[in-house]
Amino acid sequence: MTVIKSKNNKNTGEKVGEKINGFHKNGFVNHKLVSVDETCIDKNGSIESNQDINNQYKRDENFKESFEQPTLITACLTYLGFYLLMIIGYINQLFFVPKVATEKNRDDYVPLFAAFESFYLRYVYRRVKDCWNRPICSCPADTVTLKDRVTKDYGWTFEFTGTETKCLNLGSYNYLGFAQNKGPCADDAIESIHKYGIATYSPRRELGTNALHTELEKLTAEFLGVEDAIVFGMGFATNALNLPSLLSPGCLVISDEKNHASIILGLRLSGATIKVYKHNNTHHLEKVIQQAIVNGQPNGKPWKKILIILEGVFSMEGSIVKLPEIIEIKKKYGAFIYLDEAHSIGATGNHGRGVCDFYGINPKDVDILMGTFTKSFGSAGGYIGGSKSLISFLRANSHAHCYASSMAPAVTQQILTSMKIIMGLDGTNEGKKRIDQLARNTRYFRKRLAQIGVITYGHEDSPVVPMLVYLFSKIGAVVRTLTKRQIAVVGAGFPATPIMEGRIRFCLSAAHTKEQLDYALQVIDEIGDSLGLKYSRKPRDLNQIEY
Ligand SMILES: Cc1ncc(COP(=O)(O)O)c(C=O)c1O
Repeated sequence: MTVIKSKNNKNTGEKVGEKINGFHKNGFVNHKLVSVDETCIDKNGSIESNQDINNQYKRDENFKESFEQPTLITACLTYLGFYLLMIIGYINQLFFVPKVATEKNRDDYVPLFAAFESFYLRYVYRRVKDCWNRPICSCPADTVTLKDRVTKDYGWTFEFTGTETKCLNLGSYNYLGFAQNKGPCADDAIESIHKYGIATYSPRRELGTNALHTELEKLTAEFLGVEDAIVFGMGFATNALNLPSLLSPGCLVISDEKNHASIILGLRLSGATIKVYKHNNTHHLEKVIQQAIVNGQPNGKPWKKILIILEGVFSMEGSIVKLPEIIEIKKKYGAFIYLDEAHSIGATGNHGRGVCDFYGINPKDVDILMGTFTKSFGSAGGYIGGSKSLISFLRANSHAHCYASSMAPAVTQQILTSMKIIMGLDGTNEGKKRIDQLARNTRYFRKRLAQIGVITYGHEDSPVVPMLVYLFSKIGAVVRTLTKRQIAVVGAGFPATPIMEGRIRFCLSAAHTKEQLDYALQVIDEIGDSLGLKYSRKPRDLNQIEY
């Protein structure tokens, strides 16, 4: 396969440590410094040749990303609030010893329960537990219906009240509004059940491949602008089960510190050496890669290969990867890139084709394009796209392909229909309209939040919008207050974020109307005063924000 080459290039006869193009290769292969096939996506969405593509990348000067820091007082209060909760928990535990089972006869075994985890769940998380795991009873589209619950034992258990609350949905990953129970996607999906049944009852390598899978793989490759693609029934497993096929001990992975749990699990399973670089910090990335090349493996041997792994839009930070710079680094050091586009495919770029489209980059400059169908396509599953040899290798070696049941027919059909709409293959401009609507909603919502004076993280074009509330107790207060005002949102706090950075994560959708966003913004403005969320010290734009 092309993507993974041995440390000694048998084809060129280059030696370990040989100095090539001004840097020591230290054993990994310097694959083509410039792609032979320079292509880019043109205005109409087709892939075309362009030798000067590098000059067209959006550069730093256009990079509008913000990570405003709070005042020292806010930082101190946040830590104080968190540690106060912990101290109260310890005192509580001291006086009211919890009646929990203890592990018996397990000498020399690893404990089944982590003491800190049980403490945290009992005394900290339980206080805000009602803000998570909220059952829904409708299609999670622009609105979602929550089943109302109460707790009579301080968050240990919940009972349904029998009532329901219809909320504006600012929490689901429904970027292009394809989470629908009617319309062409739903109709086609229902039809596919009549033909193929509910599930496939077999892995791809046995009796689990049908015409929908092959069509989807072909269409995905065309959509991404790569030679070939392979699809899997689960996005999480696409990372967790394919990374171990691509990597082995002796390989080096340089991973962004904010990468998703599925990536971290896959990397750990692979046995490769993992080094972490600061979030989206290309200077730090280059420093880490240089250091690793100089040092080589702990046994003194050079790395078998070096993989830089990152996400397109980071799901917790709302940031967009600095892909042009990272491609320069990978070319300079002969590394490979694995890009997880779970949140960026469909949601970024003029044609919804992810961050390569966003920057006008040749998709073939990214060695491994991974993504999920769970967000913009309103379906489930994941894909990997790349060279023919990479995909053939995965077809033969991927555990997710060989041993897991293949993608269900209705799920596959939903992706096929939505992808065709995005690509304009349905003969309408519905796809483009949705992409533009999401972009408009994103910019408007982010600008209005800045005007209100709350702190948001991330890039102005990222539909993932984290609003910082800092204090742990405020995550609960904001989620509950917004739910009372019929707005469903997701809160995130420690350990999913650093202690200091509790947040509410809004996910925007093409399905949202301006009126819906205005309602949410009006409520956020009101509770911003009552709950003290207006932390931003940036000058506010007092002009009316255009939609
Ligand atoms: C970056 C990233 N990769 C992979 C996944 C897993 O995908 P799925 O939810 O489709 O299983 C997620 C889930 O949100 C994600 O954010």
